[in-house]
Amino acid sequence: MKNMLVTGGCGFIGANFIRYLLKESDYTGHIINVDNLTYAGNLENLADVGIDYPEQYIFIKADICDRNRIMKIFEDYQIDSVCHFAAESHVDRSIVKPDAFIQTNIVGTFNLLESAKTRLDHIIRFHHISTDEVYGSLGKEGYFTETTPYRPNSPYSASKASSDHLVRAFHKTYDLPVTISNCSNNYGPYQFPEKLIPLIILNALEGKSLPVYGDGENVRDWLYVRDHCTAIWKIMKQGKNGDTYNVGGDSEMENIKLVEMICDVLDEMDRFPDKRSRRNLITFVKDRPGHDRRYAIDFGKLSRELNWFPEASLETGIRDTIKWYMENQKWVERVKSGEYQNWIRTHYA
Ligand code: NAD
Ligand code: DAU
Repeated sequence: MKNMLVTGGCGFIGANFIRYLLKESDYTGHIINVDNLTYAGNLENLADVGIDYPEQYIFIKADICDRNRIMKIFEDYQIDSVCHFAAESHVDRSIVKPDAFIQTNIVGTFNLLESAKTRLDHIIRFHHISTDEVYGSLGKEGYFTETTPYRPNSPYSASKASSDHLVRAFHKTYDLPVTISNCSNNYGPYQFPEKLIPLIILNALEGKSLPVYGDGENVRDWLYVRDHCTAIWKIMKQGKNGDTYNVGGDSEMENIKLVEMICDVLDEMDRFPDKRSRRNLITFVKDRPGHDRRYAIDFGKLSRELNWFPEASLETGIRDTIKWYMENQKWVERVKSGEYQNWIRTHYA
């Protein structure tokens, strides 16, 4: 792989992946980061990368829904591999207004596949990033495996399921060399503070209320983003053509327990002057419609076949994440104020 197209590289996981690839992995080729900078895309996430790796890193502001533009990028940059992150990613937003999810997640993925198809002889790997949410919801027992039937419950997960099927179909029908990974909830540096963990950390730091949906007993498996990045790179290099791999953090927890844990770690690191526990800020709010009860991932295939295991425990991952948000207040302020969007408007008007 010499010319890798990374889509959605200015988002949370994409930015972490590009940082990992350039700073820590054995990848020595070019990265062409295509992102149209939605509310979730932030050039600041990679500002130092652009400076430190000017030969290897290229950013292009483009929409994956613009087929002609994407086709041209494949040609102009002689793309030989793809790591596809770009998506609308927030479940709550998909419930309120699913339109962009259908466009970007389904039509955008289709455009990328069509573009890759025109360069079939050159493409070594098309890796598609998906989610465990395509499998639906679990009861108290059991785990999602790669053969669990798809039962998506939200417009977001239905759009991701749809894109997974398209990727698989392009492999079966046209021999496009694809791999797919379905992972659990990521957390770590650079996550947009609409998702549970950064939202709770930032609200708790400011003494604001901590919204917990429903009874708080919904369970998620938490995957530290760096562990996700090492898994993706292993799959891209060594994964079996046409296969799916589940990626999990081995860290299942009820939402309420996770929120309490964040409160306790924050109290220990940065106690309120009146010594009040941050747990007092927890507020149970109206549940999310169609809220999946439990996700849990069996990542045995990835461990057995590619010798991948998550390194971070939830405890260390949460501490590192809290520390990152505390040390990056300027990033937080700019993201929350929308200032970085103004910066984008001036630079890419
Ligand atoms: P994110 O919302 O932080 O970032 C998405 C990025 O895609 C942004 O930079 C945005 O500008 C870009 N983008 C959106 N629409 C685009 C378009 N039409 N054209 C070009 N760029 C576009 O998302 P994330 O949390 O980093 O998730 C990345 C991928 O991982 C997604 O495919 C998501 O479904 C999947 N995933 C995320 C998680 C998680 O916990 N965050 C878990 C499982 C799977
Ligand atoms: O499982 C993988 C998925 O994880 C990804 O595919 C999605 O892109 C990603 O957004 C995430 O989806 P979730 O809906 O699980 O993540 P979120 O952070 O929105 O919510 C995590 C859990 O916390 C969920 O059970 C809902 C709950 N929640 C969320 C928010 C934002 C709350 O209780 N309060 C909140 O304010």
